[in-house]
Amino acid sequence: MPYFERDVEVLIDSATLQARIVELGKEITRDYQGKDLTVVGIMKGSIFFMTDLAKAIDLPITLELMGVSSYHGGTETTGEVRISFDLTKPMHGKHILIAEDIIDTGLTMKFLLENLAARHPASIKVATLLEKPARAKTKVPIDYKGFVIEDKFVVGYGLDYGEKYRNLPFIGVMRSE
Ligand code: IMP
Ligand code: MG
Repeated sequence: MPYFERDVEVLIDSATLQARIVELGKEITRDYQGKDLTVVGIMKGSIFFMTDLAKAIDLPITLELMGVSSYHGGTETTGEVRISFDLTKPMHGKHILIAEDIIDTGLTMKFLLENLAARHPASIKVATLLEKPARAKTKVPIDYKGFVIEDKFVVGYGLDYGEKYRNLPFIGVMRSE
């Protein structure tokens, strides 16, 4: 029995994830024809999504990473976000596509949008693998969305519970939840 099966139940399997990401990649490929696109992955949660999405985009893109950590009150972010790893290149004049794992309260994305806008890019759009609309505290524009999920704590495919389960190839729900 795989190590995770006692604790984690599959919510979105690997084939379903990959098929949806390929669709998003095609949309992005259409939308950014002739543009200088930089995909900014938000660490650590979005690394798997970012790399699979990047491979599904048929354009000469640039990849960047940004790490953010938010102060949590329980399982929920307080909206106070800190940059733990910053971009290594100037974003002035670039078309930025943020690749995020999940938009929950929306507070992290609000921070990211404000922070990146201050660097004067040509445009900023948001791609998120998951959205949990039930918990939204602020409205953030989402341009490319993988799946809308219920208000459940999910792990896998980059998402963690106490830094564990990020390497699962699917999105799962903790059985204790
Ligand atoms: P927000 O600021 O509340 O939208 O939270 C966004 C961040 O919280 C995400 O980038 C995740 O790192 C984390 N997060 C939110 N919901 C979950 C979840 O269900 N599982 C794992 N991490 C989550
Ligand atoms: Mg995250």
